[in-house]
Amino acid sequence: MAKSSLLSLLSLLAAVTTLAIAAAASSSSSSNFIKSSCSTTTYPSLCYKSLSNYASTIQQDPHQLVQTALSFSLNKTVETRAFVSKLRSISGLKPRELAALRDCIEEMADSVDRLGRSLKELKLCQPKSQDFSWHMSNVETWVSSALTDESTCSDGFAGKALNGKIKASIRARMVNVAHVTSNALSLINKYASDNY
Ligand SMILES: *[C@@H]1O[C@H](CO)[C@@H](O)[C@H](O)[C@H]1NC(C)=O
Repeated sequence: MAKSSLLSLLSLLAAVTTLAIAAAASSSSSSNFIKSSCSTTTYPSLCYKSLSNYASTIQQDPHQLVQTALSFSLNKTVETRAFVSKLRSISGLKPRELAALRDCIEEMADSVDRLGRSLKELKLCQPKSQDFSWHMSNVETWVSSALTDESTCSDGFAGKALNGKIKASIRARMVNVAHVTSNALSLINKYASDNY
């Protein structure tokens, strides 16, 4: 009796260990997949830092990878737009500063809109499906315009329009979101060319 329950305990332990090893191996191969995919982007370490949290969703699925990268970029852009919108209420802004902010808020809104549409369109981009290249080229065009909007916004804060702390904090965020979107675009372009 005692001996058989010891045996079943041991085999249970063995099974649990095997599962743990398998889970660790699968998460590490997903991490490797994300790392090697990110290595072709312009900002590979930002790419890996952004996407490695989603390793269990991404697994080693190229479609899931681009879907997650685009969704991450959309979410960051929504966040940044909200941040920039709030800055409007800062008192004592010069007209020039307000104008730069207004332009930026508008560009971020356009960017959110394009990225949101792209994310829906990307769901239709299943390899070997009909119209793959049509949907894919829409995604590439819209994400690329979204990136232009974001870069225009951060360039607006590069000059003398805003001073000091506000400028530094806006610019850092704008640059970050533009890099995240640029990475999503590289992954999308790579995915497209791998599947044409
Ligand atoms: C982006 O936000 C949506 C809605 O809140 C959420 O469902 C999705 O998982 C988020 N995407 C990422 C990559 O975090």
